Amino acid sequence: MSSSDQTASTSFNAPDCSQIQLNEHGRLHHFLTPQNLSKDILTEIMDVAESFSSVANQAVKKVPVLRGKTIVNLFFENSTRTRTTFELAAKRLSADVININVATSAASKGESVLDTIRTLEAMQVDMFVVRHADSGTAHFIARNVAPHVSVINAGDGSHAHPTQAMLDMFTIRRVKKDFSKLKVAIIGDILHSRVARSEIHALNILGAKEVRVIAPNTLLPIDAKALGVTVFNDLESGLDDVDVVIMLRLQRERMHGALLPSENEYFDRFGLTEEKLAYTKSDVTVMHPGPINRGVEMAASVADGPNSVVLQQVTNGIAVRMAVMTLILGQNRQVVGAE
Ligand code: CP
Repeated sequence: MSSSDQTASTSFNAPDCSQIQLNEHGRLHHFLTPQNLSKDILTEIMDVAESFSSVANQAVKKVPVLRGKTIVNLFFENSTRTRTTFELAAKRLSADVININVATSAASKGESVLDTIRTLEAMQVDMFVVRHADSGTAHFIARNVAPHVSVINAGDGSHAHPTQAMLDMFTIRRVKKDFSKLKVAIIGDILHSRVARSEIHALNILGAKEVRVIAPNTLLPIDAKALGVTVFNDLESGLDDVDVVIMLRLQRERMHGALLPSENEYFDRFGLTEEKLAYTKSDVTVMHPGPINRGVEMAASVADGPNSVVLQQVTNGIAVRMAVMTLILGQNRQVVGAE
């Protein structure tokens, strides 16, 4: 675990999660990053999510898939969407859910992350959902929990946000169907974005035709091209003919030093407006993981416009998180979608 969040720089060595995420049968045991997972696993997450999406329309929004399981939400960093949809997803699966309020927990008295985990583990929990400002924290916890306990990374520093990436892939698949035909542009603060990293991995695994990043050089990792993307520094060329646009928030809490001119100048060059949307395909899908800073990374008219699927992303997050928790903890994975 890094001691401070300098992780978006090229000096950050992402933890190798590939040895730890899968069990001896090649099934998900932890979900820390989409990197190095197979297309089959990512597709299975989306397929199971599809089967769960109708649960929200039932009179009783519950299925008994994880009855008797205990899931702990442990968010050391603030969240609205991720924490709430993980809680809803677990409750819809009939699991017992504990939300630890870190601000009022013994962490505020100096208890370490590991001691917090060991204390909660002594209460026979089955899964931790962890968000932390330091990259590698979820991986660190996964290496230190008991073998029967699983960890889902709900965002670690600038490293990964795998369930956000998967809900975005699920949203794209629902609208556009075939990844192999898609040009996808990710715009904004790539340097600090765990969402961008996980989306780039997922899009490449799923076979997207082209993944572009569009940003000023100060908000790009030096090794951006090594991530498997085409790099652009302006919207006019970067947005040309794209099918999907994913906007990112400027993550000021992770910025060290002056990486930007004013927000107004940033919006002029990289903010998505209706005029700039004209560079894309006419049926472009506009996405944002949230929270949105309207007038900084995108105009309100675009965020709320006909091409935006921002709120569908939020809704889809419940089904995707149900799918991930089920694939990890569910006892009868083959029939779970039929329940
Ligand atoms: N997209 C996302 O992670 O949002 P929250 O910070 O509200 O969870």
